[in-house]
Amino acid sequence: MANTAKRILKNFTPEKMSPTRLLRKIVPGSEPAGEPVIELPCRPLSFPPADTVSPPSPYPFLIDSNNPLEELGRKYLPTKREHNYLPLYWMHFRDIRHQVRKFCEIGLQRDASLRMWEEFFPNAEIYGIDIDPACREFEGGRRRVFIGDQSDRQFLGNVLNDIGGGLDIVIDDGSHLVDHQLATFEFLLPALNRHGIYVMEDTGPCVGDYQRVTVNTLQQLAANILYWPDDYRPEDWPKLSAFPDSSSWADRNVIGVAVYRWIAFVFRGDNPGDNPYLQRDS
Ligand SMILES: C[S@@+](CC[C@H](N)C(=O)[O-])C[C@H]1O[C@@H](n2cnc3c(N)ncnc32)[C@H](O)[C@@H]1O
Repeated sequence: MANTAKRILKNFTPEKMSPTRLLRKIVPGSEPAGEPVIELPCRPLSFPPADTVSPPSPYPFLIDSNNPLEELGRKYLPTKREHNYLPLYWMHFRDIRHQVRKFCEIGLQRDASLRMWEEFFPNAEIYGIDIDPACREFEGGRRRVFIGDQSDRQFLGNVLNDIGGGLDIVIDDGSHLVDHQLATFEFLLPALNRHGIYVMEDTGPCVGDYQRVTVNTLQQLAANILYWPDDYRPEDWPKLSAFPDSSSWADRNVIGVAVYRWIAFVFRGDNPGDNPYLQRDS
């Protein structure tokens, strides 16, 4: 059983198998009747009883929320501020703020979020996508709006052609439907630039995905990130600077997945070239 799951994960490429199909093969509960259920090898965790109160930390949650993005959040009031996603965005975007050139958010509703990002990324074209034609009026400054359905590949392809590709960041805050989230992700992840970041807001029970299908699917990417060639010696891992041709696109192009409560970040990159522990020939 474990070997079958390993083989399926190893062969996963977005071109050959959609994450949705991959999930159907691996995650129990999402199987159409009649198909075999495959379980990922894992062990249950067991923590000691927490009979003492944790000591307070000398710092707040991960990062101080008093930062420039929070200030912009207070100014523009996008929904992502209410959901308390801004500290996570600050954590992941603060160091690339001035380098980002092409940014896209799917799902606008108001101009609040687009304007916040326009001010936060001073050198970026800010693209917005929404199915509601009324959102067209949010264009202006460095903001451009495309009207269409995020699950429509032809529409997304036209958007990419129009902007000339090379997106640095995509945030999906659109329909929040599992099929849409995954279809948009499958199409746009390969369209990001080498170190692009893809974000999905509102995943899991908070939008009715009680089986956590979207996040379970993204978590499968951990197997790609940890790709290991057959017969490679464990002690040689710092010398593994390139994967063989038999590795999948996801093996070579995804370097991280960060899952938080209701929001996930997927990081594109050069796997394993971006590995900071790689021993380089000097
Ligand atoms: C939660 S609102 C976006 C809020 C905004 N991003 C913010 O942070 O303030 C969701 C938006 O997604 C849009 N939407 C819903 N289904 C969509 C689809 N299939 N394709 C594109 N946009 C869609 C809706 O019209 C709505 O404006």
